[in-house]
Amino acid sequence: MKTASNQPNQQNQKTPAFLMKGLAGRKTLKGRVTINGAKNAALKAMAAAVLFDKKVRLENVPHTADIDTMSAILEKLGAKITPVRNHVMEIDTTGMTAANSTDIDPVLAGGMRASVVLTGPLLARFGKVSFPAPGGCVIGARPIDLFLEGYKKMGAKVTLENGLYQITAPNGLSGMDNFFHIISVGGTETLMMAATLAKGKTILSNCAKEPEIINVAEWLISCGAKIKGAGTSTIEITGSGRNIGDAGKLLHADQAKPFVTIPDRIEAGSFLLLGALCAKDLVIEKCEPKHMTAVLHLLGDAGVIMEVAADTITLKGNAKPNSQSKSFNISTKEYPGFPTDLQAPAVVFLTQVTGESSILETIFEGRFKYVEDLVQLGANITVTDPREIKVKGPTAFAKPIGDLYAHDIRAGFAIVMAALVANGHFKIHNAHLIDRGYESLEERLTSLGADMRRS
Ligand code: EPZ
Repeated sequence: MKTASNQPNQQNQKTPAFLMKGLAGRKTLKGRVTINGAKNAALKAMAAAVLFDKKVRLENVPHTADIDTMSAILEKLGAKITPVRNHVMEIDTTGMTAANSTDIDPVLAGGMRASVVLTGPLLARFGKVSFPAPGGCVIGARPIDLFLEGYKKMGAKVTLENGLYQITAPNGLSGMDNFFHIISVGGTETLMMAATLAKGKTILSNCAKEPEIINVAEWLISCGAKIKGAGTSTIEITGSGRNIGDAGKLLHADQAKPFVTIPDRIEAGSFLLLGALCAKDLVIEKCEPKHMTAVLHLLGDAGVIMEVAADTITLKGNAKPNSQSKSFNISTKEYPGFPTDLQAPAVVFLTQVTGESSILETIFEGRFKYVEDLVQLGANITVTDPREIKVKGPTAFAKPIGDLYAHDIRAGFAIVMAALVANGHFKIHNAHLIDRGYESLEERLTSLGADMRRS
């Protein structure tokens, strides 16, 4: 029996679903899939638009639901946005003011964790911000202590009133020396952005090194920010010394300096794992294999045959049964380790190959909710600890389970993979969670030969 906890949002009949027919273990998908820009870089560049004195242009922006949510939050704050068309968008924050543009909409922010990243640029520009504890994927506690501690060190006052954080720095932010006691992608990006307008030098130690951080930092540098060391564990920022209320000391961009989003390494890794299980011939185009070393090595060691070129990965003539591939162990880690965002898709892969694997989730404590669905399909998975599972493969997914559930963006993709591998017809509920991170997934998989539609 499915438990209530296994059926998020089931009471909301209006959420979209995917209807799919599985391939029953056959590897028939074929064709080319183009990788979009990284949503986790584009979202941060959207937040960074608040640091600018002019309209900014963002290119290679994926049209996912999270990008629309961030647009809605910025628009409510007074930004003018030209919505994503052909993966280009423009954001003009010149009309935003201290009087009208510092209260982040609690309902919109409740739906997306990345909204907390906006607090840094708003505080740096306007000297105040109010926001709710952020929402987003239900994958763990996801506290914001690193942000709040950083702001306090930069001279801000933090209070919590009626469920809303109020942060004020009427004299502007000051540089600081900060050590992240936990490595945090959002914490690194947010404090880095806030520091670009602060007075004096900020040193951030034990930083996250994700490529998305470098992508945003390089753009900010090209527009006048003084940032050194993004992509290493120590980032040094010399702020512009903004006084709140001054017209100047913001960053400058023009059409010649757009933000160009890097390819989404998580989307590419997701299609790679799916292709390894279900495709005969698949070309993954416009990706950045240099950012995918961990997953490429594991799949190579497992026996998956891939050709890796500068910006494509080809799974060619990969017709051998999945049971001929070997299992591997995973411990999720900060970049360049194995990404937590590929943990669930990798587990689906491991249910189909031969051997026993152990998967340790070290980043988030709540990222195994999808396991129950896989077990109901026929997977042999034991939860040995809230952060660790053991998978024994191969197992056919032949059980007649019609209803499956997306629990978060990546677990949702994993459930789509599982349904494709399986024998039967499936309804994947909560497709809106998958839409948060993957643009038009059903169209892209259909073009490869999958039997899938939205309902
Ligand atoms: C980013 O989340 C990504 N989201 C996540 O992708 C990704 O899973 C995660 O990084 C790890 O790679 C975006 O970029 C929008 P963290 P973020 O701060 O920044 C703890 C997806 O599917 N922590 O690096 O929120 C936290 O609880 C999403 O695209 C604190 O303790 O992650 C976690 O255990 C899901 N206090 C660890 O740090 C804080 O103040 C790492 O989280 C902040 C974080």
